[in-house]
Amino acid sequence: MATTLPILTPDLQAPPPAPDQARKAGRLIDSHGRCIQDVRLSITDRCNFRCIYCMEPGDRFLPKMELLSLDEYIRLVGILLELGIRTLRITGGEPTLYPDLDALINHVGQLDLDDIAMTTNGSNLDLRRLEQWRSAGLRRMTFSLDTLREERMKSITRSTSTVQDVLGAIRLAREAGYPRPKVNAVIIRGINDDEIVDFAKLARNEDLDIRFIEFMPLDSGRAWNRDHVVDANEMLLNIEQQFTLKAENGDNPHSTSMNWTFADGSPGRIGMIAPVSRPFCGACNRLRITAEGRIRPCLFSHEEWDIRSLLRSGSTNKAIANAIVDMAWTKQAGHGIGHSDFVQPERTMSAIGG
Ligand code: 5AD
Ligand code: SF4
Repeated sequence: MATTLPILTPDLQAPPPAPDQARKAGRLIDSHGRCIQDVRLSITDRCNFRCIYCMEPGDRFLPKMELLSLDEYIRLVGILLELGIRTLRITGGEPTLYPDLDALINHVGQLDLDDIAMTTNGSNLDLRRLEQWRSAGLRRMTFSLDTLREERMKSITRSTSTVQDVLGAIRLAREAGYPRPKVNAVIIRGINDDEIVDFAKLARNEDLDIRFIEFMPLDSGRAWNRDHVVDANEMLLNIEQQFTLKAENGDNPHSTSMNWTFADGSPGRIGMIAPVSRPFCGACNRLRITAEGRIRPCLFSHEEWDIRSLLRSGSTNKAIANAIVDMAWTKQAGHGIGHSDFVQPERTMSAIGG
């Protein structure tokens, strides 16, 4: 039985009902014909970093009661599994700050899922936990690291964590038996765009999958503008002045990144995540759930739908499943970052879950 917790914020409106065939299918399909099978579950809005492209130092976190409980996450994931979800990514905030993380991984690790991954800033990991999560069913780790220079690390993350800490955590993940870790590097003009080749060298030296991410308008400081974006093409040209890359074919069609290996056979891999210059919305099969139990059909949604009030008001699993089908149906066709009428969503990445 899920614990009953009070609802502190007013209910959001319910989405319009999806057509009958979507409800009958009992699967998550949207009105643009995409089948949703990947969930990004944010398990906390807390973070010990304040990355400049994400949070401002004064940003407030939600009261604990607003966040879903372990029982609620477990129930929700069970319902999503029935609705055909195949892959799960655990995100935050910083997911390692979630007190029930071990129990959550122990639970989801037993479910019939094709993949379970986690994105972390790597500041809060040790070998024992990494090993324990892996044997419980966590398959892959993605780390966020945007600079290889210690001084910059301080100014980008506004934390006391060092580059060496994160590189150390990445090595521990290797030692714990995870496959080649992914490293997300958000590249911002004038901040770290002179480190692109250094990251490519790191990929080779440490056999990492470095994924360069275009800066997206999801920063709570609202400093984003097009001039700060270094697009994937420019990043590639930069790397190719030093190394010849070989495009990887046969990528997962739902993958957010375009990937390359090194033509000289060196270890490591390069990925470009280019939501700004090359939106991949057409193949997007993702749904995001915020730490307080709201469904966001898209990173850039202006609408989000409340699941928590259903979880806390005695609704049956069937009723919740139907509501999620309706919510998924509303997924927008694309984000339109490049359009003149684009409006940045209220939420930052830390509140949405990357
Ligand atoms: N633009 C691009 N990537 C971002 N992330 C957070 N905020 C932004 C942004 N404004 C990335 C982080 C992390 C992932 C979860 O999301 O680097 O790796
Ligand atoms: Fe924290 Fe990640 Fe946001 Fe940085 S990007 S402040 S690590 S949630």
